[in-house]
Amino acid sequence: MRLVNTRYYAGASMFWDKRAATLEDQTTQPIQHAVEMGFDAAHGGIDSLIRKLQVLPYYPELFKMVFGSPDITEDRIQLALAQFIRSIESFESRFDEGFAQVFNPALPNANVGTDFPNYTAEENLGKTLFLTPPVAGGAGCAGCHSIPTFSLDVASRSNGLDAGETIIFKAPSLKNVGLESHFMHDGRLTSLEEVIEHYDSGVQDGPALDNRLRGPGGVPQQLNLTAAEKAALKAFLLTLNDVALTTTAAYSDPFLP
Ligand code: HEC
Repeated sequence: MRLVNTRYYAGASMFWDKRAATLEDQTTQPIQHAVEMGFDAAHGGIDSLIRKLQVLPYYPELFKMVFGSPDITEDRIQLALAQFIRSIESFESRFDEGFAQVFNPALPNANVGTDFPNYTAEENLGKTLFLTPPVAGGAGCAGCHSIPTFSLDVASRSNGLDAGETIIFKAPSLKNVGLESHFMHDGRLTSLEEVIEHYDSGVQDGPALDNRLRGPGGVPQQLNLTAAEKAALKAFLLTLNDVALTTTAAYSDPFLP
């Protein structure tokens, strides 16, 4: 899952299936996972990582600077990693630039609904579709992917990928989603076109399906978007790319001279 804007998910639970209660709890799970970083129980667990860190010249020093003593513990690793991830925020996409140009806190939703001067007509149409609920002729995406951070609404239930779904999945912020090649918790969709088709006509019913994805009579929605509207929605999603973030020196390898 993308790490950008993680701090804005109000629910705090992490991973696609929300199995970690907090960001702190999340950070050391991949370290201890056999197929991720390999410090699993058979390989000595987190303690074997801690022993490695203790003998490096700089880590005890850095832990002392931050926590007051050189002790390296799982708790401290979690606190430090979680704060680092919270620092990864996106605010330089074309969406952010356009919103800043029209921003007016006195107007509804701070005026995000007005056309952005830095957008093409197609991108502005896509924004309108993203923001407008299906009952008013839109695609209703912002009902769950909240403006302006594009983090998932904490009350969101599932989006109906599979019939009979019982698990409530979580999505990362949609910022930089256009830089991905696989989408959804199992990466089953491989283009934004497929994502848009899913919401247009592919939503499946099940106990976990969110009511916001139900149409009249409670059945899964059919948005009936035109080809031009689907293309506009995709064009809008691409304006959430924040290349300034993905190229910022602060997130490059700290061990380079
Ligand atoms: C009812 C809430 C809800 C609505 C409305 C909704 N989504 Fe989602 N969206 C989700 C959930 C939940 C996931 C994660 C599903 C999963 O991984 O199984 C998701 C995942 C996604 C992803 C994949 C993110 C990734 O990193 O893999 C994209 C892209 C997306 N939604 C776009 C949209 C668009 C575009 C719309 C409007 C047409 C929309 N969503 C409407 C809840 C919603």
